[in-house]
Amino acid sequence: MERTFAIIKPDAVANGRAGAILAEIEKAGFRICAMRMARLGRHQAEGFYAVHKERPFFNGLIDFMTEGPVVLLALEADDAIKKWRETMGATNPEKAADGTIRKRFGTNIERNATHGSDAPETAAFELAYFFTGYDLM
Ligand code: RTP
Ligand code: MG
Repeated sequence: MERTFAIIKPDAVANGRAGAILAEIEKAGFRICAMRMARLGRHQAEGFYAVHKERPFFNGLIDFMTEGPVVLLALEADDAIKKWRETMGATNPEKAADGTIRKRFGTNIERNATHGSDAPETAAFELAYFFTGYDLM
């Protein structure tokens, strides 16, 4: 079993799709190990996305991720990191496969409904960034 870190982003929470996305997560076979709603602060979001600091979309990404509440999640499954990336679909909802979460719930390449860790090292960093061992059921 592997764990990955997921976020239901501000666009999806504001649009009232958090519950539908949680249902998709369970339907896909993930176990929810930890879950918390939060409103990210600017400094907190910048630390989380530090790898993208030099990207042209960085400031817009931080504006977006701090504009409203998010749902933070630790998800467990066999091959959870890859499985969650596949369940979400491509970064750009227009390019995401039919039936994926970003295709169904995303708006554009930035406002794309969910986040998922992309490798074991980033999953470990991201899980620890928002959850303590005590939070993980
Ligand atoms: P994520 O980290 O959120 O799971 O998304 P990802 O791996 O599929 O994409 P990544 O390249 O890590 O980008 C992180 C987030 O930044 C926003 N983005 N905007 N305007 C743009 O061209 C652009 N490109 C990326 C998206 O919110 C993306 O999920
Ligand atoms: Mg990423």
